[in-house]
Amino acid sequence: MNASYFEEFGELDNIQTGTLKTPEPGEGEVLVRVEAAGVNPVDAAVARGMLNEVIPAQFPAIPGWDMAGVVEECSYAARRFEEGDEVYAYARRPTVQHGTFAEYVAIPESYLAERPQQVSMEASGGIPLVGLTAYQSLFQFGNLQENDTLLILGGSGGVGTMGIQLAKTVGATVIGVAGEDNQDYMKQLGADKTIDYSAGDVGEVVNEIAPDGIDFIFHCSRGDSLKQSIGSLKSGGQLISITNRNPDIPDDIDFRYVFVEPNAKQLKHIQELTDEGKISVPVSKTFDLNEVDSALQEIESLHSRGKTVITP
Ligand SMILES: NC(=O)c1ccc[n+]([C@@H]2O[C@H](COP(=O)([O-])OP(=O)(O)OC[C@H]3O[C@@H](n4cnc5c(N)ncnc54)[C@H](OP(=O)(O)O)[C@@H]3O)[C@@H](O)[C@H]2O)c1
Repeated sequence: MNASYFEEFGELDNIQTGTLKTPEPGEGEVLVRVEAAGVNPVDAAVARGMLNEVIPAQFPAIPGWDMAGVVEECSYAARRFEEGDEVYAYARRPTVQHGTFAEYVAIPESYLAERPQQVSMEASGGIPLVGLTAYQSLFQFGNLQENDTLLILGGSGGVGTMGIQLAKTVGATVIGVAGEDNQDYMKQLGADKTIDYSAGDVGEVVNEIAPDGIDFIFHCSRGDSLKQSIGSLKSGGQLISITNRNPDIPDDIDFRYVFVEPNAKQLKHIQELTDEGKISVPVSKTFDLNEVDSALQEIESLHSRGKTVITP
């Protein structure tokens, strides 16, 4: 099969495209023909070897943890799906070797859910990692409630796009933070108020919008926005970060760092919300397998809007 892969950790232009053996699905696994694979900042970090101590690689290593596609073959004991079913998955495995930037991937059927039918295959392939990250942050490890005011730092990126829309499904009031060009975009997603981090101190604007304080900060950016806005979080308020394991915060904050985990049941719920029209996933750019290095270079700038997707 055609695949993008690297033979050693290092610069992103080490990534090449060529023919590798199509993986054989083991017991309980399904072979999926990948139609679309979401690109995430973590894919660049993996190729650079930055996660090697947590998730080792076997070379040649195919990057990519997101995908939507069509079931090609179900192995022994894989009974939930049939050939031809359209599925999607967050396909992170204990080892980086058989990723989704390839024509085929073999994964346990327990990772898979039916893909949303009301959005394109490309959009479906961009949902799993960012969708599960936002879902787990707001509803599993965090406990976002209808009357809460939520501040999302990084509201226009892949995770923020899902975060704004998921938060609106429970009726929370959402303040989205991103750069100047993304203010309208966040409003279209449903943000009640937006803040341009490049125009000044984010915390000062939050205090004007919510003088009584906010209940929840979802931190999915880098930069100084968290430092500037943490003082606006109420005592006992929730802070979930996906970018900083050890932020400098007051003692009375309910803090969790979240690292997203595969979860097919939650993917099913996200599929239902998407098919009900409550979630859309704007795909800002698509690349083919020969352009994976360029796609990863762009994604690691951390200024993407919506999702970038590889179409093998
Ligand atoms: N722990 C986990 O499980 C997990 C899972 C997924 C992602 N992540 C991490 O979470 C981060 C976001 O991922 P992503 O896929 O959403 O990235 P992305 O698509 O590149 O989005 C980044 C977002 O951050 C905004 N931003 C940049 N500088 C900012 C600042 N100073 N203050 C506030 N917002 C700022 C960008 O807006 P502009 O473009 O307007 O600047 C954009 O909305 C990445 O670092 C990624 O590695 C972690």
